[in-house]
Amino acid sequence: MKKGKIFSGMRPTGRLHIGHLSVLQNWIRLQQEYDCVFGIVDWHALTTSFEDVQALPANIRENALDWLSAGLDPEKSPIMVQSQVKEHAELHLLFSMMTPVSWLERCPTYKEQLHQFGIQGKEINMYGFLGYPLLMAADILVYLADYVPVGQDQLPHIEICREVARRFNFLYQVDLFPEPQALLSQVPLLPGVDNRKMSKSYGNDIPLAATTAEIQEKVRMMITDPARVRKTDPGHPEVCVVHTYQQIYNQAEVADIEERCRTAGMGCVACKKRLAAKLEELLAPIRERREQLLARPGQVEEILAAGSRQARVRAEATLGQVREAMRVKGVLDGK
Ligand code: TRP
Repeated sequence: MKKGKIFSGMRPTGRLHIGHLSVLQNWIRLQQEYDCVFGIVDWHALTTSFEDVQALPANIRENALDWLSAGLDPEKSPIMVQSQVKEHAELHLLFSMMTPVSWLERCPTYKEQLHQFGIQGKEINMYGFLGYPLLMAADILVYLADYVPVGQDQLPHIEICREVARRFNFLYQVDLFPEPQALLSQVPLLPGVDNRKMSKSYGNDIPLAATTAEIQEKVRMMITDPARVRKTDPGHPEVCVVHTYQQIYNQAEVADIEERCRTAGMGCVACKKRLAAKLEELLAPIRERREQLLARPGQVEEILAAGSRQARVRAEATLGQVREAMRVKGVLDGK
């Protein structure tokens, strides 16, 4: 017996990095216990930038490859693409007819967006930004999800989703939609190799698909204690990026390494070598699975098409109930 329904998704903004791994590992755990659907939300990605549109098909594919090679199992739960399940759009439209604009305008992520535009002064405020949380509510509620694993930054969106569910149930006097709860998990804060926020656009990330040589190069680039000029100078692990990584990925050796660093018993090169070996251990199986997937052309596309088909069956069942509840069935389903 499953513990409930889950939906979660990511915008396909490009290759994933090692910082995303804990999110995926959490999804993989949840797959065992919950009835899940995972979505690549490509319509949401259209709010990011117009240039991204060109890259969308490739990014969707890369995203799916990253998810699958990290171990997400399409046999256990559908992996779908938002734009392949049009019911998300229909539910978004119906929700838009009963959602006060003020709910969306007061959303902190929207206000933040407006503020950014104010600073840059050249962007146009598109309707899609305002409606972003409502489309997200449709993603979640179309599968009647009880839980949504997300990061802290998404909490205002989950709150709007709950309000929309409550309002629909109240307006149409039904008990159709659950009020989904966020599932927050402990995600270690992982800096990029230059100690800024890890981001593909800064080039300071370690891609999930990194080769052995790339891993070694990224570790080599990691910023260490600037006060440690010679190997004989004692180091300060608390200011060292390599140390942050050792704490997360090399728990068995970190105490020993820290001691040797502070007492100048081990140099940065040796320390980095040990970290690179651990990261190789972590990423090698992911890279192998990716190669297996790539060896069979069309496989990823098939998995996404099958996942979207399965998701559509569930979404269509919900829309049936929605139209029924709105008592305009004959009009709304075109029959
Ligand atoms: N807004 C989410 C993010 O940027 C992506 C997203 C869209 C999502 N729809 C969703 C996440 C539904 C969870 C559930 O991370």
